[in-house]
Amino acid sequence: ATEILKWAVQVFGPDIALATSFGAEDQVLTDLWTGIAPRPRLFTLDTGRLFQETYDVMHATIHRYGIPCKVFAPDTVELARLVERDGPNLFYESIEKRKACCEVRKTRPLARALTGLRAWVTGLRRGQSITRAAVQAIEWDDTHGLYKICPLYDWTQEQVWEYIHDHGVPYNALHDRGFSSIGCAPCTRAIVSGEDIRAGRWWWEQPEHRE
Ligand code: ADX
Ligand code: SF4
Repeated sequence: ATEILKWAVQVFGPDIALATSFGAEDQVLTDLWTGIAPRPRLFTLDTGRLFQETYDVMHATIHRYGIPCKVFAPDTVELARLVERDGPNLFYESIEKRKACCEVRKTRPLARALTGLRAWVTGLRRGQSITRAAVQAIEWDDTHGLYKICPLYDWTQEQVWEYIHDHGVPYNALHDRGFSSIGCAPCTRAIVSGEDIRAGRWWWEQPEHRE
């Protein structure tokens, strides 16, 4: 992972950034990156519906490493229109409405965050779900028109946690309460033993819709 990240930072210089949701994998990447270069470029998509624990780990991270994290928020006019029309809890009503919420709160802010970059780094791992089984270390992201770097593509969940504990990396307190994958508060629940890692995300939908 370090070699992949080092290579990417060398090749893309200031035009590469880490997309962080402050989940376990992203925390590993932030820590790795600070070991490679003094000022990693981080951005987060603040959907406005995140858990307090996510803000806590965001706060801890920027202070621990002394680095800023750029925040991309939904467009206020688009958001107001959506919530006024469909209500604040629209995501539970249909897949279409859930996708409309993700579009305004995440997808469009992501497109803005990626503008001008030549590569982005994500914490995707093959072991996270069936839809991620083919994740590569370096891929061309056709949707956004830049390279996507996944330095942890072949890491196991155990390796991620070993790294976090060995290096005293700050992590989201919800991970200790059964939350293995953390997104927006209304769309994430804890999982029970034996369940898939991402079973707590949009748990009311069929797995193939949850990407
Ligand atoms: S998600 O698409 O279902 O939300 P997941 O939570 O597994 O994905 O995160 C996968 C990767 O997407 C993270 O490692 C991170 O790089 C990026 N990501 C997810 N959510 C955010 C966010 N809110 N802000 C920035 N990056 C994010
Ligand atoms: Fe909206 Fe839920 Fe998507 Fe967050 S995860 S943007 S609250 S539908």
